[in-house]
Parts: sequence; C-alpha cells; structure tokens
Amino acid sequence: MFSYIKAILDGIANPEKFDFNSKCGEISTALDKFASDFKNLSSPKTVINYQTIVEHFAYIYRYGARDAALMSIVVRKIRNKLKVKGTLNILSVGGGAGIDLLGLYDCKMGIKHTCLDKNDWRDEYDVVKEIIDGKRAKDELTAVEYTYVKKDINDINIKELVDFNLFIFLYSASEFDSKDGLAFLEKIKNTKTKKIVVLVDNDAANLIGWFVNNMPGKKDLLTKNTAGCNLAIGEKTNLGNYYVELTKLNQSPILGGQNSKDSAIYAWEL
Ligand SMILES: C[S@@+](CC[C@H](N)C(=O)[O-])C[C@H]1O[C@@H](n2cnc3c(N)ncnc32)[C@H](O)[C@@H]1O
Repeated sequence: MFSYIKAILDGIANPEKFDFNSKCGEISTALDKFASDFKNLSSPKTVINYQTIVEHFAYIYRYGARDAALMSIVVRKIRNKLKVKGTLNILSVGGGAGIDLLGLYDCKMGIKHTCLDKNDWRDEYDVVKEIIDGKRAKDELTAVEYTYVKKDINDINIKELVDFNLFIFLYSASEFDSKDGLAFLEKIKNTKTKKIVVLVDNDAANLIGWFVNNMPGKKDLLTKNTAGCNLAIGEKTNLGNYYVELTKLNQSPILGGQNSKDSAIYAWEL
C-alpha cells in the first residue's frame, strides 16, 4: 500500500510539476493547516482548501494510507457480508484523489468507479488508475472502468445516480454543509434502486449526525469503530525522501501515521 502511495506522490512531485526540495516548507505548512482544519471541522460550513499541488501532496502524504486501508476494509466486508454479485458500480462522493479507488487494488470483482468531487484531483486520479490497471493486468483481475466528475454534490441530479450500487462517503460528509448533504442523500434514496451507502468519517454528532439520523434501517452492517484497524504500523521502509525530509521538519509520522481512532464506519442497505 505504501509503495502505491509513494507512486502517487512521485507522480505529483515530478520535476515538471515541482521540485520537492524547494517545496518542503510549503508542504510542511499545508500539513499543519490540514491537521488544524480537521480538528476544527464544524457544521454547517467548513471549507478546506484542496486547490494546489502542494495541498494535494500534503493530503495524500498524511491521510492516503489510512483512507486506502479503510476503503479496502469496507469493500472486503461488504463483499463477504452481502455477497454482492456482478459489478460493483461505485460512486465515491467527495472522492478526492481517488485514494478510495486505490483501496480496491486487491478486489477481485468487476468494478466501475466514479469519483465525484468539486475540486480537481484528476492528475492524481490518473496515477491511481494506472496503478490499478497495472496491478489488475498482472494478476489477471477483472477490468475496471473509471470516470472523474468534477462537480459539487449540489449540481448532481437523480438521473446521474441511478446506476450506482455502492455510494461511499470517505471523510467527505463532515465537510458538507448539512443542508446540502441532506438534499443529496434524498436524491440517493429517491433513485429507488437497490444500493449500499457507506459512511466513513470522524465520529462526532455535530459532523455526521445529520447523515446518520436521516438514514433509515440498520446501520451496523459494518463494525462501527475503526479504532482496531491497525493501519499505520509496518512498512516504514521505502518511503524515500519525503519521509526523511519532512521528518526533519518535525512533522509527525507521516505516511500511514494518521490513525483512525476517532472514526466510524456506518453502512446501510437501501
Ligand atoms: C477529506 S477529503 C477526502 C477525499 C477522499 N475521499 C479520501 O478519503 O482520500 C474530502 C473531499 O470532499 C470534497 N468535497 C467537499 N465538499 C464537497 C462538495 N460540496 N461537493 C463535492 N465534493 C466535495 C473535497 O473537495 C475533498 O476532495
């Protein structure tokens, strides 16, 4: 997993885009900013900046391994528990760089993946696609189809949602205005097709209460608390210059160092 994260970072920090060494200070500042922004998330409105390459780099650097590992856990559990047959047609709502997609790297099912995000992470998403394609070609796994939709959730209509059978909100719902989020959930419910909705996020009522309280039926399809998901430890090798340089700048353990003890996984079958 970490080598994939590093491949994405290498894709970003290639000499045509930016010189990593000269950007180290900015990356360090962006890491601090994310940490404080996420600590101070509030509803109804939190706007987090994901516009610059530096911000993309910093986000993936710190949170990428956690997000990919959680996605991998979620999909494995859903597959085992619900015995989903056929193609998983996934909409990652606020899918960002496609780390959600990276978490499917060992998933032996037909997959269609659509990343819906108001920010433009297409460069990073393309790298993830290449990684998954390479892996799947080697292991002769089923093909994957990918789409990136750069839109705000407010600009999506029901017709655009009907084909999906898995909706995943991976650390995105806590950034939505609750009114917008609720309107989007209504659209999902109104597609009237069979589907699974998964929420992985900071487990705080003021951030995701609007979501959890407005979904019908059972919410214990998956284990609730992710504290036991030991995502971090292990592959501290192979992290290259990034780890070394940023550690020198006194950043806390980076790749995979962000644990998920305050997060929750909820899932519904609609
Ligand atoms: C914390 S990131 C999570 C990205 C990805 N799911 C992951 O786990 O790596 C939250 C994402 O939600 C997106 N987002 C926030 N508000 C949004 C909105 N109203 N419509 C679409 N995307 C939104 C942001 O642009 C950002 O990419």
